[in-house]
Amino acid sequence: PDLGRTAGFGKIILFGEHSVVYGYHAIAAPIALSIRAQVTRQESGTELVIPGLVTSGNAHSAESAESAESADSDLPVRIAALIIERLGISASGMRIEVFPSLPRASGLGASAALAVAIIRGMANCFNIRLTDNEVNALAFECEQIVHGTPSGIDNTVATFGRPILFRKANGARSANFSAVTVPHPIPVIIGLTGVRSLTARTVSLVRTAWAKSPSRYDGIFEQIDGLALAGVGALERGDIAELGDLMNINHGLLNALQVSSPELETLVAIARRSGALGAKLTGGGGGGAMIAIAEPDRTVAVAGAMQLAGYTTHLTEIRAATEPPA
Ligand code: MEV
Repeated sequence: PDLGRTAGFGKIILFGEHSVVYGYHAIAAPIALSIRAQVTRQESGTELVIPGLVTSGNAHSAESAESAESADSDLPVRIAALIIERLGISASGMRIEVFPSLPRASGLGASAALAVAIIRGMANCFNIRLTDNEVNALAFECEQIVHGTPSGIDNTVATFGRPILFRKANGARSANFSAVTVPHPIPVIIGLTGVRSLTARTVSLVRTAWAKSPSRYDGIFEQIDGLALAGVGALERGDIAELGDLMNINHGLLNALQVSSPELETLVAIARRSGALGAKLTGGGGGGAMIAIAEPDRTVAVAGAMQLAGYTTHLTEIRAATEPPA
């Protein structure tokens, strides 16, 4: 089987997480971390095999008794069940084996990448022809299970695997997105807080705050929208100094939304102190991951400083199109 065709990409959001849920622009890019799935037919029954996750029939025995954790462990099972139903293959037995290189609940789009990988794996196995748009639409339905009101940005990047300027569907208008080009790859340092955070939770915190004073929060979202639009130009010119400034301001506004955390603040401070041009949290926040950009010759030093403080880092690049790692 062609494992390459069954990958879903992880992602970073460069600008516009949270405000994107309210219809404002955001920019996201795929990263070299992905999730792959291999689906094979078997006599009967469905088997879902994911390293580190107990899923065979008794998801509640997994890892932790905390309710958010248990719900999180159920998700792959529910995602697989929805895809099986939508693809009309409920009558078939299959074994779904998942190979993640992407940490879960880290703000890097693992749930969307998982959905895309399983959809493509099943389509491969059962010779179902799906366009990328069909894969994306089904992955969006899966994301709705994961957190009620996804913007659709994660599944779109997981499906198409290239940097995009994205805007959520609104009424009759379907989600729209366009490719963002970069003149040369831009290195990005990803810092992991090690604190798991479910996007559903921070999205709901922001929703509650917005509902109390919509105009105050819309004002913040509008400013973030302006940063995302300015970010397109900075990316297309390869202007990393400008990109860094925009990221720093975006992080300040995410702080205003109260979706940062002590660990994220520590990582952002370390990155800036060790020479990063820009640093911000990425994804849902509340834990999870942050990103930093630096001059190419400072990248390793920035990552090193984070590691010295005990954090895990990944190096990735914003590039025109990302091939899944071998
Ligand atoms: C999660 O990667 C990004 C959020 O904006 C949620 C969403 O867009 O659905 C926080």
